Order: sequence, then structure tokens, then C-alpha cells
Amino acid sequence: MPKIRLEPVRGMRDLIPPESEEILWLEDTFRKRASSYGYEPVILPTVELFKLFEVKSGPEIVRSMYVFKDKAGREVCLRPELTAGAARLFLKTLQTRPRPVKIYYVGHVYRYEEPQRGRYREFIQAGVEYFGEEGVGADIELLALVRDYLADIGLKHYRLKLGHMGILRTLLNSWSVPEDVQDEAIHLIDKGLVDDAVRLLQKHAAGNDVSIVKELPKCREGDPEKLVRCGEEVGVSGAALDYVRQLSKILGVARELGINDVYADLGFARGLAYYTGFIFEIESSALGLSVGGGGRYDTLISLYGGPSTPATGFALGVDRIHLALKEEGWRIPERAVKVLLIPLVENYAYVDRIASRLREDGAIVNVYPKPKVSAGLRYASSRGYDYAVIVGEREVREGTVTVKNLRTRRQAVVSVDSLSLGGLP
Ligand code: HAM
Repeated sequence: MPKIRLEPVRGMRDLIPPESEEILWLEDTFRKRASSYGYEPVILPTVELFKLFEVKSGPEIVRSMYVFKDKAGREVCLRPELTAGAARLFLKTLQTRPRPVKIYYVGHVYRYEEPQRGRYREFIQAGVEYFGEEGVGADIELLALVRDYLADIGLKHYRLKLGHMGILRTLLNSWSVPEDVQDEAIHLIDKGLVDDAVRLLQKHAAGNDVSIVKELPKCREGDPEKLVRCGEEVGVSGAALDYVRQLSKILGVARELGINDVYADLGFARGLAYYTGFIFEIESSALGLSVGGGGRYDTLISLYGGPSTPATGFALGVDRIHLALKEEGWRIPERAVKVLLIPLVENYAYVDRIASRLREDGAIVNVYPKPKVSAGLRYASSRGYDYAVIVGEREVREGTVTVKNLRTRRQAVVSVDSLSLGGLP
């Protein structure tokens, strides 16, 4: 037998408690919060046709995809995100439903990027997609949902960065820049390589002066009115200025929603090429990374061959949110009481009765498989249990259990009839 390598494949991770428990709690809390806004769960395939992403995901995502041929020769990939799959599902199954169609998902995604802190090749996204509504109300709802979720989980230090793809796209279209060059330039701007983007655009701008692209990032404003003024000052006009006004409106509402650390940046672009309008990202100050992002993509459904359908959505990087919380000294807020039940007699029905009572009260009850008190107690304290419950012959005879509080060291004999989590010593 060749020796098996025990390290996971580069960029992949094994997750064990407490991290695995914390991440699952973050996922569950997202599901509850998204449901509370009327989003409904969908479960999408991990493997999709490569074509789905090739159409409009943008150069960065496409370059970092796991693409391969399946046994029937189909060119497939591991999904690098879920929006394209959600759009496919909308077209195939959900488009006949009354509008709006609001869905949420939590799933693993794969990107072949250079691994580093907060950047993995397999990670978890939790997101929502809102189909069939063009008004800013839908975009604003996304911000309220993000606000509530981050409050639910207790992330304290974050900033919301807002932008609008309509501004850049309008300028690039007015200079007749071909779409693939636009996507490449937007990718460069997203990476912070504005000078490279300007050089590229200059070659394809039919003689137009593209220097305004360098000016846009100067307009970073928390104040909605100053944002519009700054846009005018750097030379934004016409339809592009209308988009600045729309962005300014969303910025103002975000403040009214109680999101204090929020600003708009006219030079902000997101790498995914399907965005057409309002975009945003959540920046964790503790981590120095974006922990989530999204925006409006009003043309993706029609690019897939469907009817013109406005859409907006976002996805959070659950692993990055977890890292950011840890940086802030976070601890999981709810944890079930953990009980180790140590039976010293072979009375399965009695043990089951006790375990069931405590489980009904919400406890985690783990039955120790050996009739050994000291080994059981060592196991319990090494695994962070709160109580040990011992069942010996005397306890069975008297209809009781012996309960040890492993934190306070208090001990009591409790009758099984009155056994409840609240009544433990
Ligand atoms: P995205 O910005 O590419 O957007 O990814 C969303 C989040 O996934 C990022 O903000 C980040 O937290 C996390 N993320 C990205 N790459 C990695 C990585 N290598 N390791 C760990 N976390 C990572 C989207 O995927 C869009 N589908 C969002 C969307 C939904 N837009 C509209 N609807």
C-alpha cells in the first residue's frame, strides 16, 4: 500500500470543533435571518457546465475555475459562486412564479487562487438573490438584511462600501470600448490597477480621453450631497451622473437605516462582469478584507436567453466572517449544555429515559460507553462538558441519578421523575 498523505489538498481545509461548530452556527443564523425577510431556500448543484460562467463572470473568476471534462466529455466546473446557478434555476423553474422571486443559499464554492490568510480554494458562501424588481427598494433591502445579520452574529467593526457600475459602463460605452475590453478593464480597476486599466482603455476608446477613470476614485464620500458634487467636479455628466444621483440616494437611505460606517466610491468596481448597477462590499476593519459583496445584474437572465429580468443579490464569505469575528475576540453566543452520562449498569431503558429527558430540555447528552467513572470524568473535562450524570445500581434502585457539576464541582442526587436541565446543581 502506498503511504496516504494526510494533509488536505492545497487550499482545502479540515474543520473541526470549535471552528466547525462556529461556522455552522453562522450558516444557521444566516438561514434564519434570510427567511425572516421572505427569502426561500434553494440547494444548487456543486458541478455546473463551464459555459454558464464563461458567459459573464469576468476574467478573474474564469481564470481561477476548476474546469474539467466529465466521463461523457462535458466541459464542467466546480461552481466558483452561486449567482450564475441561481440565475439558471430562475430561468428553468422559477420564472413563471409571481414576482418578486426571492431565494437564499448556503454552499461550498471553489476558486483556484493562491491560498493565504482568508483566501482558500474551497470556501462557503451564504447569499440571497432577488429576481424581478428593478427599483432601488430591492437593493436597499439587501443592505438592511446585511445590517441585521451582522448584528445577529455580533460583527462590530465593518464598513459598507457602495458603488454603481452604471457610471463606468456608461462612460466606456460612450467611448465605444468593446465589451471584452470593458470587462478586462473593470477587472483591473477591481484589483486596484487603475493605471493599467486606463492604458488598456486608451487603446480601445476611439480617440476619446479616458482620464476621467483616474479621477473617479477621488470621489469617496459618506455624505450623499457631497458625492454628487464631487461627481460633477470630476466631470461626470448625463446618464452617468444620473447613476451617481441614484447611488447618492441609496447612501442617504443606508444612513437612515442606521448603518453608520458607510461610504460611496465612484471609482469602485467589482470583478464579476455581470454587474450592471448598484454594487457594494462589506469590509472588515479587523481583517482588512472584504467579507461579502453583491449588487445588481439586470442583464444576466437575458444573456442566458431569458426575458429581460432585473435582479440583485449578494454573498457573504462565511469563512472570512468567521475569521473577522475571531479577530474581534468573538465567542459563539449560544451553546447547548453538555452532559456526559456514565452508566455503571446495563439498564438501557433507564439510561434512555434520563438521556431523553435532558435532550428534550435542549441538552447535548453523550452516553459514555464504558462503566468507568474516573475515565468518564477525564473525558468530560477534556471535551468541555458541563455535567456528568452517573447511574449506578443504587440510583436505579432508588429511581435517581447522581449529577456532578463539572464547573462548580457541586454534586447532588436527583430523582428521575423531577429531572430537568434547570433543576441540575
Ligand atoms: P464575490 O465578491 O466574488 O461575489 O464573493 C463573495 C465573498 O466571498 C467575498 O466577499 C469574500 O468574502 C468571499 N470570498 C471570495 N473569494 C474567497 C476565497 N478565495 N476564500 C475565502 N472567501 C472568499 C460573488 O461571488 C457574487 N456571486 C455575489 C453576488 C450575489 N452578487 C450578486 N448576487
